[in-house]
Amino acid sequence: MVSRRDFVKFGTSGALVFAGGGTVLGRLPGVGADRAAGTRVVGGDAAVAGRVREVRLTARAADWDSGAGRVVSAWTYDGRVPGQDIRAKEGELLRVVLKNELPEPTTIHWHGLPVPHAMDGVPELTQPPVAPGETFTYEFVARPAGTYWYHSHFGYQLDRGLFGPLIIEPAREELEYDREYVLVLDDWLLAPEDPEPDASAGMCMMGGSMGGMMGGRRGGMMGGRDESGVRPQPIYRAFTANGLAGAAHAPLAVRRGERVRLRLINASAATVVPLRLRGHRLTITHTDGQPVRPLETDVVRIGMGERYDVVFTADSPGLWPLESVESEQRKGGLRFLLRYDGVRGDRISEAAASSTSSARYRDLAGREPLQRTEPDRLYELRLSGGMMRGPTVWTINGRRYPDTEPLAVREGERVRLRIFNMSMMPHPIHLHGHFYDVVEPDGRRAAAPLRKDTLVVDHMQTHVIDFTADNPGARWFLHCHNLYHQHGGMATEVQYS
Ligand code: C2O
Ligand code: CU
Repeated sequence: MVSRRDFVKFGTSGALVFAGGGTVLGRLPGVGADRAAGTRVVGGDAAVAGRVREVRLTARAADWDSGAGRVVSAWTYDGRVPGQDIRAKEGELLRVVLKNELPEPTTIHWHGLPVPHAMDGVPELTQPPVAPGETFTYEFVARPAGTYWYHSHFGYQLDRGLFGPLIIEPAREELEYDREYVLVLDDWLLAPEDPEPDASAGMCMMGGSMGGMMGGRRGGMMGGRDESGVRPQPIYRAFTANGLAGAAHAPLAVRRGERVRLRLINASAATVVPLRLRGHRLTITHTDGQPVRPLETDVVRIGMGERYDVVFTADSPGLWPLESVESEQRKGGLRFLLRYDGVRGDRISEAAASSTSSARYRDLAGREPLQRTEPDRLYELRLSGGMMRGPTVWTINGRRYPDTEPLAVREGERVRLRIFNMSMMPHPIHLHGHFYDVVEPDGRRAAAPLRKDTLVVDHMQTHVIDFTADNPGARWFLHCHNLYHQHGGMATEVQYS
């Protein structure tokens, strides 16, 4: 197997953009070269400890053409959606200088990375938000390796375009592949029927004949917020990868015989994406950046905030769709093409029917056997909402954040959460600052649990997760990664005492 890797992604004009642009590799004075100086890089790999990777991000409004309608006024990092690929080597010190040129405060959260508390980017919980005109420097050691992402954690800003991929490369890559694409998936609103098309929901496009199709469904909530300023979930009808709708996208280029890695990141506000590549099977190698025992599947289902790394062998020359299994999502642009070198024309290749059901968590296994330690604490979280109390009320154990019961922990404890979803909607539950082990996915004890930071709990499903309270800090956020559920109250805090 060839070990050459093209770290490429397709850019906004179909040009190949080499990732890592805009980052500066430097040396941290006093570290590495001179360990005796007393600066300590926690967990840094010897080869890279002491190296600093500095990235600058300017949050600002910019016009963005996703290729699916009119140019929209988005909120961006450096004028692009998504923001630049941030890449670091495991063990490097990542320093990100954020300049806020938005008319509102902002913060950045490093989704999935167990960064020190002060760097976690949750307004009020871990830092005061960065005011307009101000600069804030985030700094943390890039580890462990994996596929992550970064996004604003202020209000509904994530949905306006403030997100980007964050890739931490391992010191030694175990996976063999020839080419890599990073795909950040996102959902967009269509104007003008969606609520507040030009307000905070922001990313709206004229959908031509599609507009209005579903207007009125939200009854009295239409276009409004409830008494606590929470917005009901609008209907997302357009979808992009790396900021571009399927039709506007340059096809992903592959060569016959290559092993291709896809890093899939779902940055959507409210859309779970079941993705397949026609004519090929996908092998899942990582979930949320952490290695799993490779599993072949036809469909990978990605909740909001989740990441999947998959590889496939390019053994079937043609022009193939990489697309959602759901026709509404395909119609909305969630259909991208993969073109083999030498294949011309627009005729889409045809494949035999394949399964449309996705790999489940319980089909997947992590690398390490289950630790049979009994937890020091157990919390039950009943997820509910969206029904009797109205479309903007989302609860944990019947209560809405900030009135939910915090989860008290002490440093070093093993904590178990049993999460049960009584509502009709899927909830991707994300814990900040910690990985958890999925010890019981959907009622079955795992022999080798998945290690994740975001996990979709479906209707009437129960997952049991364990984590070690190994990242002290007063308050860590735990919430549903549906932006509307999060703001509707489906959130709580892990509090260290
Ligand atoms: Cu991806 Cu609390 O966030
Ligand atoms: Cu939810």
